Amino acid sequence: MTTTIAISNQKGGVAKTTTCLSLGACLSEMGKIVMLVDMDPQANLTLSLGLKPKEMRCTVGDALLGNNSLIGVSRESPVYGLDIVPANQGLVILDRVLYGRPGYQFRLKNGLDDVDEGFYDYVLIDCPPSLGTLTLNALTAADLLIIPIQTEYYAAHTLLYFIRLVQRVREKTNPRLKYRVLVTMYDRRNKIYRIILNQLQRGLSKALFETIIEVDTKLRESPVFGQPITLYAPKTRGARQYRALAQELINHE
Ligand SMILES: Nc1ncnc2c1ncn2[C@@H]1O[C@H](COP(=O)(O)OP(=O)(O)O)[C@@H](O)[C@H]1O
Ligand SMILES: [Mg+2]
Repeated sequence: MTTTIAISNQKGGVAKTTTCLSLGACLSEMGKIVMLVDMDPQANLTLSLGLKPKEMRCTVGDALLGNNSLIGVSRESPVYGLDIVPANQGLVILDRVLYGRPGYQFRLKNGLDDVDEGFYDYVLIDCPPSLGTLTLNALTAADLLIIPIQTEYYAAHTLLYFIRLVQRVREKTNPRLKYRVLVTMYDRRNKIYRIILNQLQRGLSKALFETIIEVDTKLRESPVFGQPITLYAPKTRGARQYRALAQELINHE
């Protein structure tokens, strides 16, 4: 069984890419075989594994257009068991080109359906900070949507938006979509953060991951070295918390 997870929030800078990379690396550390899919034209996930988007001849775009298979455009990363389907800027145009074509929301799902069932234990999809064709493809392909969120005043607003979005996706293209919320970049010294975390815990209950990811500068540094946190700083708090998240995810299934 392959579990497909989309990591999305229409806001930038909430740790979508960091979560995708770190969670993927922790799952593979636990012996899982993982495919990361970069669906963001900014290609930060691709960059954070030391690949140069400008030098990529084949990207997820080719798979979405049907010129190549997802396996055909995937690459092995420096982490054993962690493969990446890279992105580059070309995805900006693709987002518009695909829109309106029959079944345009199903391109990624169809690509994933062509991969042998069980070849990967997990597929993690990093989404752009917008709700275009690319994000709709990710949500249509996913079993689970992870919404990373910072405990700031707009958190409730963002969540309301997403809960409506999930409802719409369930009706239109993916009735099985579930969602869970992940608190990221948490600073426990900040009183407002503590108050909002409390509200989220009460309001969301089981839809909120118990694991909370706190601020850790090592998480900020690791992409510069083309490595996930499990390689760059395996003993830090950031690494420990993403391992806990991976374990919570496995236990939940
Ligand atoms: N737990 C954390 N502690 C400190 N910095 C973090 C943490 N998570 C992410 N960051 C940093 O915050 C910035 C935005 O994160 P990123 O994953 O790129 O967000 P997104 O993909 O949502 O735009 C990056 O510089 C990243 O390194
Ligand atoms: Mg990102």
